[in-house]
Amino acid sequence: MTSARVTDILGQMTTEEKIGQLNQLSADFFPDGQAVITGPMKTQHMTLDTLYQAGSVLGISGAERVRKVQADYLAHNRLQVPLLFMADVVHGYRTIFPIPLALGASFDPAIVRHASAIAAKESAAGGVHVTFAPMVDLVRDPRWGRVMESTGEDPYLNSVLAEASVQGFQGALPLDNDHIAACVKHFAAYGAPEGGREYNTVDISEWRFKEQYLPSYAAAIKAQALLVMTSFNTLFGVPATGNQHLMRDILREELQFNGVLISDWDAIGELMQHGVAGSLTEAADLALQAGVDIDMMSFAFAQYLKRAARLDAQTQTLIDEAVRRVLELKETLGLFDDPYRGISAKREAAVVGNQDNMAAAELAAEQTMVLLKNRNQLLPLDSATKIVLIGPTSDTGDLLGSWSWQGSSAETETIVHAMAASFSSVESAPGCDYHALNFKALETAEKIGRNADVIVAALGFPSAESGEATSMTNIQLPAEQLRLLRKLATLGKPIVSLVVTGRPLDLTEVDALSDSVLLTWFPGSRGAQAITRIISGASEPGGRLPMSFPRTVGQVPVYYNHYHTGRPLNHNASDAENKYLSKYIDETNDPLYPFGFGLGYADIELKDLTIQQPQLSPNETLYVHVKVVNSADIDGQTVVQIYGHQLVGETVRPVKQLIGFKKVAVAAKQTVELTIAIQPEQLGYYHRDLAFKIDSGKYEIMAGTSSQTTLQADFTIVGTEKEDDHA
Ligand code: BGC
Repeated sequence: MTSARVTDILGQMTTEEKIGQLNQLSADFFPDGQAVITGPMKTQHMTLDTLYQAGSVLGISGAERVRKVQADYLAHNRLQVPLLFMADVVHGYRTIFPIPLALGASFDPAIVRHASAIAAKESAAGGVHVTFAPMVDLVRDPRWGRVMESTGEDPYLNSVLAEASVQGFQGALPLDNDHIAACVKHFAAYGAPEGGREYNTVDISEWRFKEQYLPSYAAAIKAQALLVMTSFNTLFGVPATGNQHLMRDILREELQFNGVLISDWDAIGELMQHGVAGSLTEAADLALQAGVDIDMMSFAFAQYLKRAARLDAQTQTLIDEAVRRVLELKETLGLFDDPYRGISAKREAAVVGNQDNMAAAELAAEQTMVLLKNRNQLLPLDSATKIVLIGPTSDTGDLLGSWSWQGSSAETETIVHAMAASFSSVESAPGCDYHALNFKALETAEKIGRNADVIVAALGFPSAESGEATSMTNIQLPAEQLRLLRKLATLGKPIVSLVVTGRPLDLTEVDALSDSVLLTWFPGSRGAQAITRIISGASEPGGRLPMSFPRTVGQVPVYYNHYHTGRPLNHNASDAENKYLSKYIDETNDPLYPFGFGLGYADIELKDLTIQQPQLSPNETLYVHVKVVNSADIDGQTVVQIYGHQLVGETVRPVKQLIGFKKVAVAAKQTVELTIAIQPEQLGYYHRDLAFKIDSGKYEIMAGTSSQTTLQADFTIVGTEKEDDHA
């Protein structure tokens, strides 16, 4: 329901003022607190007057700066409609948490919620009203650089974490001054570009879209995310930003989204490059008709200014609809009551990057790193171990990852410094640069490597090589680093490899050359301290893979929840003799490390999987019981994962799909008896008619500490319309 205040303001607005609300400008237009018409602005038919009618700006933050820009803006805005400040607060503001893909590895909604809440609190103190997060695009292609921004390949994990992230950013509605509005992106299916090439075409069926890609957006919207951002890509043959079916039928109708729909950067203008609009005016019409409310930086909606006096009735109605949503957002944020929304330099200084927030980032980093290999329990290392730390990521603060514009890598502890504080003997040398190697550096590395009890190879990529516009065809570590690792391996010392990365990699050779492999991701502001705590055993590596890691790029996309084919591998000896199966002749089908995989330091296994109701009706919650046994004499933790599989469906069903999970701590020599509740909707799916239904019939439940499950039990659903078909 639109409030009287919004109706009143809308009623007083001129058409030009309304159009203004639909434009979002970049920070460049407010350089010193005041709006200026320079550079690109001059070419976009904007005047100083229309600039002071723009509804929102992106990329400005800092209490003082925001206050100055808002004050100047309000001094020039006839109806005193405050300016909205949006920004990419993705995995932290000043306190940088591990990248979202790493947060996915936490398998812990509480960690994600807390990270988003801290990011919200810091950025709200810095004057930000809306964050362009969470990014909830499902991803299965590590060649795509933006995998680092997502939580991975699984619809259910993505959905649970999407909900948690929205809850963290927004808190309970109505928003208070410690929270900011969340903008779910990128609607939709941006994570499936062909060939993993950035901004490329997406072509998936609507059935598959609904089955796998839609759930995470739906979960974020159900959690009341106040905004949605359109994606750059085409879906069902039409670019998302001008796609009426996607935005009107699916987003607004089916998902009941009533908030603000913002375009991605210049995405309305790009409707021309896509070849579905012949002019910027036509592009504006397509986007407006699709239901886009805010134009981020393509000046397409600004084209309406030229014919403001002669807009047809339909366009006027659509503009009113969009302006109303923008004003409602401003009202929800409390901006009509306080355009400065509680910002103060004092509050900012107390909140931003404080010790508590940094401690939370360190804990999150520990809970996201994934131990991929640990031969002979090499890790953890005793503090007296003589460590030789070698590699291009050993002495760098570049551990924050992309989308951390307010974070400071200069102030970020390096791995070598953090390790030197915990181990009595740490010698270090770079060995090589990220992408360059010289003979002398290699010789030095080899020389000091001979002194080691254990060599720690700190490998990986700089932040700039993952994130937007960083698609890659080769997903191995750079050749120079592999050469370094091969050289170190000749020394005959135990090797621990640390891998700093924003994407899944082909780690086949790294695995073969190392005794232990710790995937650190881009671990954030306190990543180096977290790495050190894990290596020393002060804490356990708590992460489990949110994406499968391929053996070779040629397997991509490889993911656990694939469908049965007509000629599946049966995983028995006769597979090798049967040529006509769905397989490669030069590589296995399985990834190197499966989804959900990760080692801890204890020895934990699952036992005695039972189902409370072997027969249940379709709207019943299913209760699954399992014992979690720690046979080690140290405390530990694991992620209990429950997968489901419907034996016969109307459409093909995934071989297994995650339907429940829980991170559990188990004390030394103890057993935890766990009950996991599976909600009925986890057992339904989109049928041929694209309706979501639950079938009667036979199902399997599988449990494990990775997607390579170890336990199985069966149950039956009875009492649906189609009972006799599949039972
Ligand atoms: C990205 C969005 C981002 C926007 C604003 C675009 O290039 O695709 O994810 O929110 O820029 O920075």
